[in-house]
Amino acid sequence: MSASSSAIESVLVENRVFPPPPAFAQAARISGMPAYQALCAEAEADYEGFWARLAREHLDWNKPFSQTLDRSNAPFFQWFADGELNASANCLDRHMGTPVEHKTAIVFEADDGTVTRLSYRELLERVGRFANALKAQGVQKGDRVLIYMPMTVEGVVAMQACARIGATHSVVFGGFSAKAVQERIIDAGAVVVITANYQLRGGKELPLKAIVDDALASGECPSVRRVLVYERTATACAMTPGRDISFDEALAGQSTECAPVAVGAEHPLFILYTSGSTGKPKGVQHSTGGYLLWAKLSMEWTFDLRADDIFWCTADIGWITGHTYVAYGPLAAGATQIVYEGVPTYPDAGRFWQMIERHRCTIFYTAPTAIRSLIKAAEADAAVHPGRSDLSSLRLLGSVGEPINPEAWMWYHRHVGGERCPIVDTFWQTETGGHVITPLPGATPLVPGSCTLPLPGITAAIVDEMGNDIADGTGGILVIKKPWPSMIRNIWNDPERFKKSYFPEELKGYYLAGDGAVRSSDRSYFRITGRIDDVLNVSGHRMGTMEIESALVAKTDLVAEAAVVGRPDDVTGEAICAFVVLKRGRPTGEEAKQLAKELRDWVAREIGPIAKPKEIRFGDNLPKTRSGKIMRRLLRALAKGEAITQDTSTLENPAILEQLAEKN
Ligand code: WTA
Repeated sequence: MSASSSAIESVLVENRVFPPPPAFAQAARISGMPAYQALCAEAEADYEGFWARLAREHLDWNKPFSQTLDRSNAPFFQWFADGELNASANCLDRHMGTPVEHKTAIVFEADDGTVTRLSYRELLERVGRFANALKAQGVQKGDRVLIYMPMTVEGVVAMQACARIGATHSVVFGGFSAKAVQERIIDAGAVVVITANYQLRGGKELPLKAIVDDALASGECPSVRRVLVYERTATACAMTPGRDISFDEALAGQSTECAPVAVGAEHPLFILYTSGSTGKPKGVQHSTGGYLLWAKLSMEWTFDLRADDIFWCTADIGWITGHTYVAYGPLAAGATQIVYEGVPTYPDAGRFWQMIERHRCTIFYTAPTAIRSLIKAAEADAAVHPGRSDLSSLRLLGSVGEPINPEAWMWYHRHVGGERCPIVDTFWQTETGGHVITPLPGATPLVPGSCTLPLPGITAAIVDEMGNDIADGTGGILVIKKPWPSMIRNIWNDPERFKKSYFPEELKGYYLAGDGAVRSSDRSYFRITGRIDDVLNVSGHRMGTMEIESALVAKTDLVAEAAVVGRPDDVTGEAICAFVVLKRGRPTGEEAKQLAKELRDWVAREIGPIAKPKEIRFGDNLPKTRSGKIMRRLLRALAKGEAITQDTSTLENPAILEQLAEKN
């Protein structure tokens, strides 16, 4: 495990500092560093008391909790365990009878530009009706429901409706393949699948229901009793009688009133699959109480949320960011948010900027990949430059999902934020449930490319391989020392893997994030230097190298062996590079190009288009040690196009390096 040294160097040379604008700081919820430090001190003085106070203040409990943290079965920590609540009631019902009731909850902009608005009252009614429809289909508390939906209001409604009746949802991003959907249905034991006939992205209709049909066709998903189909477009799709039912049919005659079911605070609100360092994705299991507390609180703290804000998080509900900062956090906090169905580049790469202007967005939260691709587009075509839109409504910007390079940070600051908006570079993970290391916009002086400091109550630290603290300025392993309410509770069906992945013995019981990090010598600010396991971050999407390797070798008629590594990419952060040994020997020229395409399409079918290798190189063999271990560090250097200057003395077949250095 080692942190990348080039990233460490850049933290040492970054000396631009942007203190919070005084007017912003003055009006902020957490105003100035002393206010931040006071919260940290409160957490330090009485850790459980701190979280208990917040949980009582921020959530409505049907039954109050008496115990805050239960460590008796560590690392399976429990928070607020004897308390009962309902997540949907905390997002919707609790606003009824307050000024939020008739406030806009969601401004939905469809792919084609059609705008619809929903108040909190209307959203509650939609969720209630949908929850009743689920009940009518036999869904009960504790059942798992798989959601494979476009980025629409209906997707959010489906999630909230599951929460309302105590069903555990598992949302699968619409870009995953039938095989991926099938694996998740089986692992979760889903009884119902909620999907749409098609999704609309960039003016195109892409099938969703047909993919679910494929996933179910094998007969390997006997748990699924019903498929609910949202008719997003007028195009018909095949319906299996007795199994499939349209939304219209399922919702007809259902009442809008559905009493929320109180569940224990530890009841699994959702399972979300993410990539790890083996071939099989992990079902990250989150709680109801602790998760929701952090969704609401981080919404208010990190985004300094105010009653009149128009919040926009561009993430899809298929990812954790879309769970916490679209489906739950903004609603729990009573915010008005924008939900956008489509892609940033349709009809042109000015879409985000035009939407900010159109909806008077005040807080904009997106991924570095999107920013970098929009920089490129704006440089190529002035018509889509953010300067063409009126972005004066913005007061705060956010970044999530991958490291933001200082150049992209500066562009975002200048051209989108008009040099007046703080940028919160939020570091977190599917497993952390919400932000863990991030600036507070009214308190923290910003340094481009740094996620700065842990939120109050989050005991983030950098340690060596034995769990010992490391001095500032030296790279190490990122851990969180104490359990916190929104942390992952388990890996669905795999408690052993949960323990091994996140609480390795040598780390003193700390939570292992899987990232390398370094703290700056001057301010002790954190900078994330990248994953220390075999996980890649491509356009902010987590991809396991082993997952892609398994997919490649599953093409048994063609592939003998495959190794996948990441290489830096200007736009996507990292790009997937696969080294492949074919059974038929090494192809060259046109044949190599043809086969590379075939393999890329194969990976898209096995996992999804997001997992397609950007580059595939063929060799007679892979670089291996005498004991047969693939030397990945050499492959990483080859992928980057670097000359091999590293020690190759343990390499059995050095001649192979020259061959693998060649592109097709
Ligand atoms: C990376 C996304 C640097 C990191 C919320 C982490 C980041 C992984 C940042 C989690 C950031 C996320 N700076 N790196 N601000 N945010 N990452 O589970 O490697 O999809 O472990 O959660 O993304 O990805 P995930």
